[in-house]
Amino acid sequence: MRRYSRITGTGSYLPPRRLSNEDLAAELAQRGIETSDEWIVGRTGIHARHFAAPDVASSDLALEASKKAIEAAGCTPQDIDLIIVATSTPDMIFPSTACILQDKLGAHGCPAFDVQAVCSGFVYALTVADAMIKTGAASRALVVGAEVFSRILDFSDRTTCVLFGDGAGAVVLQASEQPGILAADLHADGKHVGILCVPGNVSGGNVLGDPLLKMDGQAVFKLAVGVLEKAARATLDKAGLTDADIDWLIPHQANIRIMQSTAKKLKLPMEKVIVTVGEHGNTSAASIPLALDHGVRSGQIQPGQTLLLEGVGGGFTWGAVLLKL
Ligand code: ACO
Repeated sequence: MRRYSRITGTGSYLPPRRLSNEDLAAELAQRGIETSDEWIVGRTGIHARHFAAPDVASSDLALEASKKAIEAAGCTPQDIDLIIVATSTPDMIFPSTACILQDKLGAHGCPAFDVQAVCSGFVYALTVADAMIKTGAASRALVVGAEVFSRILDFSDRTTCVLFGDGAGAVVLQASEQPGILAADLHADGKHVGILCVPGNVSGGNVLGDPLLKMDGQAVFKLAVGVLEKAARATLDKAGLTDADIDWLIPHQANIRIMQSTAKKLKLPMEKVIVTVGEHGNTSAASIPLALDHGVRSGQIQPGQTLLLEGVGGGFTWGAVLLKL
Protein backbone atom coordinates (compact mmCIF):
# COMPACT_ATOMS: atom_id res chain seq x y z
CA MET A 1 0.00 0.00 0.00
CA ARG A 2 1.45 3.41 -0.93
CA ARG A 3 1.80 5.90 1.87
CA TYR A 4 0.61 9.47 1.30
CA SER A 5 0.10 12.52 3.49
CA ARG A 6 -3.03 14.64 3.76
CA ILE A 7 -4.17 17.69 5.67
CA THR A 8 -6.65 16.75 8.40
CA GLY A 9 -6.98 20.09 10.19
CA THR A 10 -6.23 23.79 9.67
CA GLY A 11 -5.99 26.72 12.08
CA SER A 12 -4.87 30.32 12.15
CA TYR A 13 -4.45 33.27 14.45
CA LEU A 14 -4.12 37.03 14.05
CA PRO A 15 -3.04 39.24 16.96
CA PRO A 16 -5.94 41.49 18.05
CA ARG A 17 -4.36 44.86 17.23
CA ARG A 18 -5.71 45.75 13.75
CA LEU A 19 -4.37 48.81 11.97
CA SER A 20 -6.30 50.10 8.98
CA ASN A 21 -4.35 52.02 6.36
CA GLU A 22 -5.71 55.23 7.90
CA ASP A 23 -4.50 54.17 11.36
CA LEU A 24 -1.03 53.39 10.00
CA ALA A 25 -0.91 56.60 7.94
CA ALA A 26 -1.75 58.60 11.10
CA GLU A 27 1.07 56.86 13.04
CA LEU A 28 3.55 57.41 10.21
CA ALA A 29 2.53 61.08 9.90
CA GLN A 30 3.79 61.59 13.46
CA ARG A 31 7.22 60.51 12.17
CA GLY A 32 6.96 62.85 9.19
CA ILE A 33 6.27 59.98 6.74
CA GLU A 34 3.48 60.53 4.25
CA THR A 35 1.26 57.76 2.88
CA SER A 36 -2.43 57.23 2.18
CA ASP A 37 -5.13 54.57 2.05
CA GLU A 38 -5.54 55.36 -1.64
CA TRP A 39 -1.85 54.67 -2.46
CA ILE A 40 -1.66 51.46 -0.41
CA VAL A 41 -4.93 49.98 -1.72
CA GLY A 42 -4.21 51.00 -5.32
CA ARG A 43 -0.69 49.48 -5.41
CA THR A 44 -1.23 46.41 -3.21
CA GLY A 45 -4.89 45.68 -2.33
CA ILE A 46 -4.01 45.96 1.38
CA HIS A 47 -6.62 47.66 3.61
CA ALA A 48 -5.36 46.60 7.04
CA ARG A 49 -2.83 44.46 8.90
CA HIS A 50 -2.49 43.08 12.44
CA PHE A 51 0.49 43.82 14.69
CA ALA A 52 1.44 41.72 17.71
CA ALA A 53 1.91 43.35 21.14
CA PRO A 54 5.60 43.89 22.06
CA ASP A 55 5.71 40.90 24.43
CA VAL A 56 4.18 38.48 21.91
CA ALA A 57 6.55 36.26 19.90
CA SER A 58 6.12 34.11 16.78
CA SER A 59 5.77 31.01 18.99
CA ASP A 60 2.78 32.62 20.78
CA LEU A 61 0.99 33.23 17.48
CA ALA A 62 2.02 29.72 16.33
CA LEU A 63 0.59 28.21 19.53
CA GLU A 64 -2.87 29.69 18.98
CA ALA A 65 -2.97 28.63 15.31
CA SER A 66 -1.66 25.14 16.20
CA LYS A 67 -4.26 24.56 18.91
CA LYS A 68 -7.00 25.26 16.36
CA ALA A 69 -5.45 23.01 13.70
CA ILE A 70 -4.98 20.17 16.21
CA GLU A 71 -8.58 20.52 17.40
CA ALA A 72 -9.84 20.52 13.79
CA ALA A 73 -7.81 17.34 13.13
CA GLY A 74 -9.50 15.67 16.11
CA CYS A 75 -6.23 14.82 17.83
CA THR A 76 -4.17 16.09 20.77
CA PRO A 77 -0.71 17.69 20.92
CA GLN A 78 0.62 14.36 22.23
CA ASP A 79 -0.41 12.69 18.94
CA ILE A 80 1.90 15.02 16.96
CA ASP A 81 5.21 13.34 16.06
CA LEU A 82 6.87 16.12 14.02
CA ILE A 83 6.79 19.92 14.30
CA ILE A 84 8.07 22.21 11.55
CA VAL A 85 7.77 25.99 11.85
CA ALA A 86 8.41 28.22 8.85
CA THR A 87 9.51 31.64 10.08
CA SER A 88 11.95 34.45 9.35
CA THR A 89 11.16 36.16 12.65
CA PRO A 90 12.09 33.46 15.18
CA ASP A 91 11.76 34.05 18.94
CA MET A 92 15.52 33.56 19.42
CA ILE A 93 18.63 32.93 17.35
CA PHE A 94 18.40 29.46 18.85
CA PRO A 95 16.77 27.19 19.85
CA SER A 96 14.25 26.99 17.04
CA THR A 97 10.77 28.45 17.33
CA ALA A 98 9.53 24.90 16.68
CA CYS A 99 11.19 23.69 19.93
CA ILE A 100 9.66 26.62 21.85
CA LEU A 101 6.26 25.83 20.32
CA GLN A 102 6.65 22.15 21.21
CA ASP A 103 7.17 23.08 24.86
CA LYS A 104 4.18 25.47 24.86
CA LEU A 105 2.03 22.68 23.37
CA GLY A 106 3.28 20.19 26.00
CA ALA A 107 4.17 17.72 23.22
CA HIS A 108 7.65 16.71 24.33
CA GLY A 109 9.96 14.31 22.49
CA CYS A 110 9.06 14.59 18.80
CA PRO A 111 11.50 16.16 16.30
CA ALA A 112 11.02 19.91 15.93
CA PHE A 113 12.85 22.36 13.69
CA ASP A 114 12.43 25.60 11.74
CA VAL A 115 12.51 26.15 8.00
CA GLN A 116 13.81 29.49 6.72
CA ALA A 117 12.63 30.30 3.22
CA VAL A 118 10.96 33.65 3.98
CA CYS A 119 7.59 33.90 2.19
CA SER A 120 8.03 30.49 0.55
CA GLY A 121 8.62 28.98 4.00
CA PHE A 122 5.25 27.29 4.32
CA VAL A 123 5.40 25.49 0.95
CA TYR A 124 8.96 24.41 1.77
CA ALA A 125 7.89 23.16 5.24
CA LEU A 126 4.86 21.32 3.88
CA THR A 127 7.03 19.60 1.26
CA VAL A 128 9.56 18.51 3.91
CA ALA A 129 6.79 17.17 6.18
CA ASP A 130 5.20 15.31 3.24
CA ALA A 131 8.55 13.70 2.40
CA MET A 132 9.14 12.68 6.04
CA ILE A 133 5.68 11.12 6.25
CA LYS A 134 6.18 9.24 2.97
CA THR A 135 9.46 7.72 4.25
CA GLY A 136 7.86 6.74 7.56
CA ALA A 137 9.96 9.20 9.60
CA ALA A 138 6.72 10.78 10.86
CA SER A 139 3.00 10.01 10.86
CA ARG A 140 1.26 13.14 12.10
CA ALA A 141 3.06 16.45 11.52
CA LEU A 142 2.22 19.93 12.69
CA VAL A 143 3.32 22.40 10.00
CA VAL A 144 3.17 26.08 10.93
CA GLY A 145 3.94 29.45 9.36
CA ALA A 146 4.34 32.18 12.00
CA GLU A 147 5.71 35.71 11.78
CA VAL A 148 6.07 38.97 13.66
CA PHE A 149 7.27 40.95 10.65
CA SER A 150 6.37 44.21 12.44
CA ARG A 151 9.64 43.71 14.42
CA ILE A 152 11.83 43.95 11.33
CA LEU A 153 10.06 46.82 9.55
CA ASP A 154 11.73 50.16 9.00
CA PHE A 155 8.95 52.62 9.86
CA SER A 156 10.89 55.41 8.20
CA ASP A 157 10.67 53.57 4.83
CA ARG A 158 7.16 53.99 3.45
CA THR A 159 7.89 51.73 0.47
CA THR A 160 8.04 48.66 2.77
CA CYS A 161 6.47 49.35 6.18
CA VAL A 162 2.92 49.59 4.80
CA LEU A 163 3.07 46.12 3.25
CA PHE A 164 3.56 43.63 6.09
CA GLY A 165 1.67 42.23 9.08
CA ASP A 166 1.89 39.60 11.84
CA GLY A 167 0.05 36.28 12.17
CA ALA A 168 0.23 32.50 12.08
CA GLY A 169 -1.37 29.59 10.27
CA ALA A 170 -1.03 25.84 10.86
CA VAL A 171 -2.03 22.48 9.45
CA VAL A 172 -1.94 18.91 10.72
CA LEU A 173 -0.54 16.67 7.97
CA GLN A 174 -1.23 13.01 8.50
CA ALA A 175 -0.18 9.71 6.93
CA SER A 176 -2.95 8.33 4.73
CA GLU A 177 -3.71 5.64 2.18
CA GLN A 178 -5.47 8.30 0.08
CA PRO A 179 -3.36 10.92 -1.72
CA GLY A 180 -3.50 14.38 -0.18
CA ILE A 181 -0.29 16.11 -1.30
CA LEU A 182 -0.07 15.32 -5.01
CA ALA A 183 3.12 17.11 -6.08
CA ALA A 184 5.52 19.90 -5.13
CA ASP A 185 8.04 22.05 -6.96
CA LEU A 186 10.56 24.12 -4.98
CA HIS A 187 13.31 26.49 -6.13
CA ALA A 188 15.82 29.07 -4.94
CA ASP A 189 18.24 31.42 -6.66
CA GLY A 190 20.72 33.00 -4.28
CA LYS A 191 21.93 35.52 -6.82
CA HIS A 192 18.91 37.63 -5.86
CA VAL A 193 19.75 37.81 -2.11
CA GLY A 194 20.04 41.60 -2.24
CA ILE A 195 16.58 42.48 -3.60
CA LEU A 196 14.74 41.38 -0.46
CA CYS A 197 16.65 40.93 2.77
CA VAL A 198 17.27 41.88 6.38
CA PRO A 199 21.03 42.30 6.03
CA GLY A 200 22.07 42.56 9.70
CA ASN A 201 23.35 39.95 12.13
CA VAL A 202 24.50 39.68 15.73
CA SER A 203 28.20 39.38 16.47
CA GLY A 204 29.99 39.72 19.77
CA GLY A 205 26.80 41.08 21.33
CA ASN A 206 26.41 43.83 18.74
CA VAL A 207 24.13 44.17 15.76
CA LEU A 208 26.23 44.28 12.62
CA GLY A 209 24.70 45.77 9.49
CA ASP A 210 21.06 46.78 9.23
CA PRO A 211 18.54 44.57 11.05
CA LEU A 212 15.53 46.00 9.17
CA LEU A 213 13.83 44.83 5.97
CA LYS A 214 15.12 46.14 2.63
CA MET A 215 13.28 45.51 -0.62
CA ASP A 216 13.58 46.51 -4.24
CA GLY A 217 9.82 46.28 -4.82
CA GLN A 218 9.86 46.46 -8.61
CA ALA A 219 12.56 43.79 -8.97
CA VAL A 220 10.64 41.51 -6.59
CA PHE A 221 7.41 42.13 -8.48
CA LYS A 222 8.94 41.23 -11.86
CA LEU A 223 10.62 38.06 -10.59
CA ALA A 224 7.52 36.93 -8.67
CA VAL A 225 5.10 37.03 -11.60
CA GLY A 226 7.51 35.06 -13.81
CA VAL A 227 8.41 32.25 -11.41
CA LEU A 228 4.95 31.66 -9.96
CA GLU A 229 3.47 30.58 -13.28
CA LYS A 230 6.42 28.26 -13.96
CA ALA A 231 6.16 26.61 -10.51
CA ALA A 232 2.42 26.15 -10.93
CA ARG A 233 2.84 24.48 -14.33
CA ALA A 234 5.70 22.25 -13.14
CA THR A 235 3.64 21.07 -10.16
CA LEU A 236 0.59 20.33 -12.29
CA ASP A 237 2.78 18.42 -14.78
CA LYS A 238 4.28 16.29 -12.00
CA ALA A 239 0.75 15.34 -10.88
CA GLY A 240 -0.49 14.79 -14.44
CA LEU A 241 -3.14 17.52 -14.01
CA THR A 242 -3.94 20.79 -15.81
CA ASP A 243 -5.09 24.33 -14.93
CA ALA A 244 -8.69 23.16 -15.28
CA ASP A 245 -8.26 20.73 -12.36
CA ILE A 246 -7.53 23.51 -9.86
CA ASP A 247 -10.49 24.30 -7.60
CA TRP A 248 -8.65 26.94 -5.57
CA LEU A 249 -5.40 28.87 -5.98
CA ILE A 250 -4.00 29.88 -2.58
CA PRO A 251 -1.08 32.19 -3.36
CA HIS A 252 1.28 33.95 -1.00
CA GLN A 253 -0.59 37.11 -0.05
CA ALA A 254 1.88 39.88 -0.91
CA ASN A 255 0.12 41.99 -3.49
CA ILE A 256 -3.26 41.63 -5.22
CA ARG A 257 -1.68 42.60 -8.55
CA ILE A 258 0.78 39.65 -8.39
CA MET A 259 -2.14 37.31 -7.59
CA GLN A 260 -4.26 38.68 -10.45
CA SER A 261 -1.39 38.28 -12.87
CA THR A 262 -0.73 34.65 -11.79
CA ALA A 263 -4.42 33.77 -11.96
CA LYS A 264 -4.66 35.23 -15.46
CA LYS A 265 -1.66 33.23 -16.67
CA LEU A 266 -3.26 30.06 -15.26
CA LYS A 267 -6.60 31.03 -16.85
CA LEU A 268 -8.27 31.00 -13.43
CA PRO A 269 -11.01 33.54 -12.62
CA MET A 270 -10.35 35.52 -9.42
CA GLU A 271 -13.39 33.72 -7.93
CA LYS A 272 -11.09 30.68 -7.65
CA VAL A 273 -8.37 32.56 -5.75
CA ILE A 274 -8.41 32.84 -1.96
CA VAL A 275 -7.57 36.48 -1.20
CA THR A 276 -6.82 37.64 2.35
CA VAL A 277 -4.14 40.25 1.65
CA GLY A 278 -6.73 43.01 2.11
CA GLU A 279 -7.20 42.24 5.82
CA HIS A 280 -3.86 40.56 6.65
CA GLY A 281 -1.24 42.40 4.59
CA ASN A 282 1.83 40.32 3.78
CA THR A 283 2.47 37.96 6.71
CA SER A 284 5.35 36.17 4.94
CA ALA A 285 5.50 32.45 5.87
CA ALA A 286 2.13 32.72 7.64
CA SER A 287 0.20 34.07 4.68
CA ILE A 288 -0.59 30.80 2.85
CA PRO A 289 -1.77 28.79 5.90
CA LEU A 290 -3.73 31.86 7.08
CA ALA A 291 -5.45 32.05 3.69
CA LEU A 292 -6.01 28.27 3.61
CA ASP A 293 -7.65 28.29 7.04
CA HIS A 294 -9.76 31.30 6.08
CA GLY A 295 -10.95 29.46 2.95
CA VAL A 296 -11.76 26.29 4.90
CA ARG A 297 -13.54 27.97 7.81
CA SER A 298 -15.52 30.33 5.57
CA GLY A 299 -16.85 27.27 3.70
CA GLN A 300 -15.35 28.35 0.36
CA ILE A 301 -12.97 25.37 0.27
CA GLN A 302 -14.69 21.98 0.48
CA PRO A 303 -13.25 18.54 1.34
CA GLY A 304 -12.06 16.68 -1.77
CA GLN A 305 -11.20 19.84 -3.70
CA THR A 306 -7.85 20.37 -5.44
CA LEU A 307 -5.76 23.27 -4.12
CA LEU A 308 -2.63 24.87 -5.51
CA LEU A 309 -0.53 26.63 -2.86
CA GLU A 310 2.16 29.00 -4.14
CA GLY A 311 4.89 30.91 -2.35
CA VAL A 312 7.57 33.38 -3.38
CA GLY A 313 9.97 35.39 -1.25
CA GLY A 314 13.42 36.40 -0.12
CA GLY A 315 16.33 34.25 -1.18
CA PHE A 316 15.02 34.38 -3.84
CA THR A 317 12.82 31.33 -3.10
CA TRP A 318 9.66 30.09 -4.75
CA GLY A 319 7.58 26.98 -5.06
CA ALA A 320 4.17 25.35 -5.22
CA VAL A 321 2.35 22.43 -3.62
CA LEU A 322 -0.66 20.76 -5.24
CA LEU A 323 -2.97 18.85 -2.92
CA LYS A 324 -6.37 17.29 -2.50
CA LEU A 325 -8.03 18.31 0.74
N1 ACO B 1 2.77 55.86 0.17
C1 ACO B 1 2.77 56.82 -0.77
N2 ACO B 1 3.67 56.87 -1.77
C2 ACO B 1 4.58 55.89 -1.82
C3 ACO B 1 4.64 54.85 -0.87
C4 ACO B 1 3.67 54.86 0.16
N3 ACO B 1 3.63 53.92 1.11
N4 ACO B 1 5.65 54.03 -1.18
C5 ACO B 1 6.23 54.51 -2.30
N5 ACO B 1 5.59 55.64 -2.68
C6 ACO B 1 5.88 56.46 -3.84
C7 ACO B 1 7.32 56.40 -4.26
O1 ACO B 1 8.11 57.29 -3.51
C8 ACO B 1 7.25 56.78 -5.72
O2 ACO B 1 7.13 58.17 -5.80
P1 ACO B 1 7.92 58.97 -6.98
O3 ACO B 1 7.33 58.43 -8.25
O4 ACO B 1 7.57 60.39 -6.68
O5 ACO B 1 9.34 58.62 -6.78
C9 ACO B 1 5.90 56.18 -6.16
O6 ACO B 1 5.15 55.96 -4.96
C10 ACO B 1 6.03 54.88 -6.90
O7 ACO B 1 6.90 54.03 -6.19
P2 ACO B 1 7.28 52.61 -6.74
O8 ACO B 1 8.22 51.94 -5.80
O9 ACO B 1 7.68 52.75 -8.17
O10 ACO B 1 5.86 51.89 -6.69
P3 ACO B 1 5.42 50.53 -7.33
O11 ACO B 1 4.32 50.74 -8.26
O12 ACO B 1 6.58 49.67 -7.76
O13 ACO B 1 4.78 49.80 -6.07
C11 ACO B 1 5.26 48.09 -4.49
C12 ACO B 1 5.60 49.49 -4.97
C13 ACO B 1 3.83 48.07 -3.99
C14 ACO B 1 6.19 47.73 -3.33
C15 ACO B 1 5.42 47.09 -5.64
O14 ACO B 1 6.66 47.27 -6.28
C16 ACO B 1 5.30 45.67 -5.21
O15 ACO B 1 4.24 45.22 -4.78
N6 ACO B 1 6.37 44.88 -5.32
C17 ACO B 1 6.36 43.50 -4.92
C18 ACO B 1 6.56 43.46 -3.47
C19 ACO B 1 6.29 42.14 -2.90
O16 ACO B 1 5.44 41.43 -3.36
N7 ACO B 1 7.05 41.82 -1.88
C20 ACO B 1 6.89 40.68 -1.17
C21 ACO B 1 7.30 39.42 -1.87
S1 ACO B 1 8.28 38.41 -0.94
C22 ACO B 1 7.93 38.65 0.62
O17 ACO B 1 6.78 38.70 0.88
C23 ACO B 1 8.93 38.86 1.70
